[in-house]
Amino acid sequence: MKVITSVQQLTAAIQQQRDDGKTIAFVPTMGNLHQGHLDLLDRARQLADCVVVSIFVNPLQFEAGGDLDNYPRTLEADIEKLQQGGADLLFAPEVSEIYGEDLTTATQVVVPGLSALWCGASRPGHFEGVTTIVNKLFNLVQADYAVFGEKDFQQLSIIRKMVTDLNMPVRIVGVPTRRESDGLAMSSRNGYLTTDQRKIAPKLREIVLNLQQQVVFGAVQDYRAMTQQALSALNQAGFKTDYLAICRQSDLQLAAPEDTQLVILVAAYLGKARLIDNSAFTLTEG
Ligand code: PAF
Repeated sequence: MKVITSVQQLTAAIQQQRDDGKTIAFVPTMGNLHQGHLDLLDRARQLADCVVVSIFVNPLQFEAGGDLDNYPRTLEADIEKLQQGGADLLFAPEVSEIYGEDLTTATQVVVPGLSALWCGASRPGHFEGVTTIVNKLFNLVQADYAVFGEKDFQQLSIIRKMVTDLNMPVRIVGVPTRRESDGLAMSSRNGYLTTDQRKIAPKLREIVLNLQQQVVFGAVQDYRAMTQQALSALNQAGFKTDYLAICRQSDLQLAAPEDTQLVILVAAYLGKARLIDNSAFTLTEG
């Protein structure tokens, strides 16, 4: 695997792949790789001849006072995992290589509406930072496919919309969430959990699945009451809930009883760790 840190080297390496007639699949990451990322890499390898991975802790998507400085950076170990996983190129630039010296004046790409909901409401500017960096990386890598985890359901929805709206010539591929054996979704932020919190963390998934059961089998489709009950269960378990909502998959607005393609979205704090999860499902007649 070739490790690249400059835009110039990356452009040359991509050109070489293109000249050789290779298709390209791209996996953008912020590093601190776990099995969930390696699933994305596996999917990318199935899709194209050449797999490009980026590791870039994007300052634009961290809010002031957020965990940018403490975000785990484990480049050596990540390189090892990517090598074993069969990546062809790793792009791991410095911040100045991507944004120049003044981040505050950089052009941004915004997907209005969707970006203001849920995680966007509690982390203002977060999704604008995501769409800006993803756009820049797409322009540099010129991939045929880009692979993202379904764990970040809202992020994936926003990226799909950006690609459609801007007619970007890349196919977005989602990969199911990788979970620990007790159901906790894998995330770099799980490392912030203490031993006691780690024991409680899988309850997030349990409560979401319980809520899903009620939506699917409940006699009365009172989503508000069901959500309230699930919120109480989260509180009792020790979470500080940011949001929990039963939404339409199409636009992530609150679902009405006539909607059939649904997703439960949740974000909740357990100590310092902000955990997110989701469950997407379809209601069928009868
Ligand atoms: O999901 C992530 O790791 C990041 O938001 C992404 C897509 C790599 C952009 O920085």
